[in-house]
Amino acid sequence: MSPADAVDAVLIKPAPIRLLSDRLETVCRTAPEVVPGIRHTRDAATRPSWPEHRTHGADTVLAEIVAAAVESIPTERTPPIARSLSVSRSHPEPIDGMTPQPYPVHGAGLGLRRSFLSALAEQSPAEVDFYEIAPENWIGMGGVNARRLRALTERHPFVCHGLSLSIGAPTPLDLHFVRQVKAFLDEHGIRAYTEHLSYCSDDGHLYDLLPIPFTEDAVRHVAGRVRRVQEILERRIALENVSYYGAPGQELSEIDFINAVLTEADCDLLLDVNNIHVNAVNHGYDPLAFLGALPGERIRYGHIAGHYVEAEDLRVDTHGADVIDPVWELLDLAYARFGVFPTLLERDFNIPPIDELVREVDRIKQIQQAHAARSARSAADA
Ligand SMILES: [Fe+2]
Repeated sequence: MSPADAVDAVLIKPAPIRLLSDRLETVCRTAPEVVPGIRHTRDAATRPSWPEHRTHGADTVLAEIVAAAVESIPTERTPPIARSLSVSRSHPEPIDGMTPQPYPVHGAGLGLRRSFLSALAEQSPAEVDFYEIAPENWIGMGGVNARRLRALTERHPFVCHGLSLSIGAPTPLDLHFVRQVKAFLDEHGIRAYTEHLSYCSDDGHLYDLLPIPFTEDAVRHVAGRVRRVQEILERRIALENVSYYGAPGQELSEIDFINAVLTEADCDLLLDVNNIHVNAVNHGYDPLAFLGALPGERIRYGHIAGHYVEAEDLRVDTHGADVIDPVWELLDLAYARFGVFPTLLERDFNIPPIDELVREVDRIKQIQQAHAARSARSAADA
């Protein structure tokens, strides 16, 4: 498949891109019947159809990404970073110059979907301590759904996880949108605003998470935009470590890039353990070493989710399946390393009835309670 064909495949059918293999014909995998989009968490009802957002600028960006990645396809996998992770039961030491921030919420959370609204209007599950929404799906909404959301935000802690800030985009920040987000956060008393360490737009919105080049220039670019967003929002934001399927123009490792952006911007981290697992498989590194190199003091809350297993060495971050055991184990190790932090279950496709999701939320809670009990025993023994 040529780069141009690959771009066309991506633009016509949003699909996972594989840019890591030595088999060029597997660069793009389009399996919409199995994997309905990579990470479209924007509700389908409000997401414009794909061709409306096909722009010359977007074509150009993707063409550059694919062309660069095709040129840089490695002949062998990147060697794993250190195999050992020193597991600490205590909270990590504060980072120099950084005042540790209190967690905005506590316990176990669930990503709120509109399909849950009527059930939640009746009764909110006791297992769910907080909810997360994408502001893009709710800003400007009226009617019964807006009233139901308002009733929920008045009764429960909420956080916002954005989809279209496009923090790494080459085009100017959409300041009007940022101000809309601020008004929404203020109106609903939202406890935190987070976004993806990626970008999703050029001249038009792509509604996918595109990989920011891991370079020093990109660190400065992204950090400056984060600082501007934090100024306008008048609050710190957190960036999520994202899944990615290609690393065009790579100068830094993923972990060094993430840490440099967080430090330079002085912002927080939304730690997604599923994304660490997915990336570790796809890019051939040690998830525990990666986890251990993250700045625990910056964690605001965490995500856990399921993914699609396309092959032993290719995972696709779909949020469309149950969480698998290795990802649960990674969450357990993250708590052991950093202490218990609030954690939310994401589910965007193949959404089961809320009762089934609540069982996974409860599993988060059980892991958290096991760590709390262990800490209490250690304190009593000391
Ligand atoms: Fe996530």
